[in-house]
Amino acid sequence: MAKVIAVVSQKGGVGKTTTAANLGAAFAREGQNVLLLEVDPQGALAPCFGIDPTTIQHGLASVLQDHIEPRAAVIETSMAGVSLLPALAPHEDELELERCASAHTMHLREVVDALVPHYDVVIVDAPPTLGFLARMTLAAADSYLVPVQAEQFAYRTLDRLIDTVETIKKDFNPELTCEGLLITMVDLRTRMSVKVVNQLYENFGDKVLMSMVPRTVTLQDMPVKGKPTVVHAAASRGGKAYNDVAQEIMANQQKPAVDPMKDLNSNGSSEDELIESMLNHVGLTHVGLGHAEQIEEDTRPASAVVDQLLNEDRRHATQWENLETRDDQFRRGTDPKE
Ligand SMILES: Nc1ncnc2c1ncn2[C@@H]1O[C@H](COP(=O)(O)OP(=O)(O)O)[C@@H](O)[C@H]1O
Ligand SMILES: [Mg+2]
Repeated sequence: MAKVIAVVSQKGGVGKTTTAANLGAAFAREGQNVLLLEVDPQGALAPCFGIDPTTIQHGLASVLQDHIEPRAAVIETSMAGVSLLPALAPHEDELELERCASAHTMHLREVVDALVPHYDVVIVDAPPTLGFLARMTLAAADSYLVPVQAEQFAYRTLDRLIDTVETIKKDFNPELTCEGLLITMVDLRTRMSVKVVNQLYENFGDKVLMSMVPRTVTLQDMPVKGKPTVVHAAASRGGKAYNDVAQEIMANQQKPAVDPMKDLNSNGSSEDELIESMLNHVGLTHVGLGHAEQIEEDTRPASAVVDQLLNEDRRHATQWENLETRDDQFRRGTDPKE
């Protein structure tokens, strides 16, 4: 019986589709039978798996209108172990999908119930709204995963999402759990990324996954390559990051639920693991073993250690900026030192 994980955020462009495609592929590489269920009418998943959208016969819109059995709309992708139920076929109407969602919030749950016995995991790619489609998605899911882009004010949208989740839990789906916040498009060379990462860890503690996704062009290639990054560039930073996200989610499923109010250590990971993970995911290599040794004797909570590392990274970023400014001044012949 599959676990149903919804990738949700009312913000567009935060990495929902990229996350759904890569997580699906990463789980499949672990031998799991994966269904990608697309609720976003933008229909961006098919090209990520080399499927020409014009060849899609039926989408979720027809399934929700009871024109077709859920399994009849599922298509196999080029990747073994990954199937896709697309949102729309070319002849289907986006408004129909919206209308179905507004008519009956639990309808998608019924569709999902018919599908879960055939898969190990169902990943739902939600639309960038908190409207009917997103609410129907949350009502149908076992858990939700929230990609948060490491950019200014990113976390501000979380309040509304949390309110919506609470309403859905109360009215339709009390068992719904949080898979975590996934920080995406991280570039710790920028102060803004560092600030957002800090704020998210401060405000949401161990609800934030330790694995972070760096900003990298390899993650933009999927529709061109027709394959998720974890397949076509498994060794790239983006590929590795999403493999680690999949591993972390699988590991979390084995653990008992933790108290979200406890500090980062409460998720059972050692400080070294946490730091190593953070550094790996953002591709930082200049903070070396010295820190690991120093931290072994450190009695501070991991969040303080992370703060220290981030502060150091900020200093490195400033040094870089100074160097770049000098380089620029040198090229323009205005370097006071020349
Ligand atoms: N980590 C990343 N680094 C660089 N570009 C990314 C990353 N994640 C996503 N993108 C790109 O950003 C855009 C939005 O991502 P997408 O997954 O479609 O977001 P959403 O589904 O939330 O709208 C896409 O062009 C995608 O290729
Ligand atoms: Mg999307």
